[in-house]
Amino acid sequence: MSAASLDIHLTDEDLTAALRTDVREGLAAEPKWLPPKWFYDARGSELFELITELPEYYPTRTERALLERVVGEIAELAQAEVLVELGAGSAAKTRLLLEALSAGGPLKTYVPQDVSVSALTAAADQVSAEFPGLSVHGVVSDFTATLDNLPRGGRRMIAFLGGTIGNLVPKERAEFLAGVHDVLEPGEQLLLGAGLVIDPAILVPAYDDVAGVTAEFNRNVLHVLNARLDANFEPEKFAHIALWDAEHEWIEMRLEATEAVTVSIAELDLTVDFAKGEQLRTEISAKFRPEGLESELDAAGFTTERIWTDPDDRFALVLAERR
Ligand code: AVJ
Repeated sequence: MSAASLDIHLTDEDLTAALRTDVREGLAAEPKWLPPKWFYDARGSELFELITELPEYYPTRTERALLERVVGEIAELAQAEVLVELGAGSAAKTRLLLEALSAGGPLKTYVPQDVSVSALTAAADQVSAEFPGLSVHGVVSDFTATLDNLPRGGRRMIAFLGGTIGNLVPKERAEFLAGVHDVLEPGEQLLLGAGLVIDPAILVPAYDDVAGVTAEFNRNVLHVLNARLDANFEPEKFAHIALWDAEHEWIEMRLEATEAVTVSIAELDLTVDFAKGEQLRTEISAKFRPEGLESELDAAGFTTERIWTDPDDRFALVLAERR
């Protein structure tokens, strides 16, 4: 029995419909691309959890250490009654925030949001067992599609951690931040975690680890297409690529066909050819400069209250207030 309630605004059929649209569009494009949200079936979420433990993948542990250091200051500036966490996933970092916000603070409700029912159910149940006084209300939705189904009422803080904002290109970021602005009332806050621009010699291995876990994670999107759309990708025929795009200041992950292949996607009545060496873009992970974060937030109607960075300037937490 679960003490947490769950609101499902996204069914399996909705997800499949969105995937079909994305695959039709992305695989017809030149160059081909797929949005990163399709990495995260059960196996993909598991692989991402493994990535966060890799020696090369610094973002998760850096953000966590930073959060540990400054969470008291965040709680003081926040005074939130409701913590909404976008893309909560396993909600690993959330405990720190929940502890700080409820220690003497007015926190009453935790609202984890994610596309994955399984990840969310587990996270919501665990949090509600650990924080018996807290009301936990999960929302299954796609935040890139809409934020309208987040609950209203109470003084809210929306947390968007992990650097996932980097998965959006600048135009999508502007739209997303405008959407967050729209759902918040003046004075309510956004807590944003974002990776910073650092030496590519540290950045690139974080997305191309020696053990090959990120390569597996990258190829997982092909397994997802096989399972959900009855496609016949042979993932082992695609090589993992991670490169730093210095102009856009983002990491780009791609899958490169190691030989010419023809793939059929039965559910879409679609055949797709890959030439030998042809690349499919599967993710961008943008990195930021503190002043860039502040100006993007300002453009969306947020005033930055405070930016914290780790001692090596690899990751930032930004607390911003909706004007
Ligand atoms: C979960 C989007 C923050 O971009 O660093 C990890 C995903 N991709 N390794 C990131 C990811 C490759 C991750 N985010």
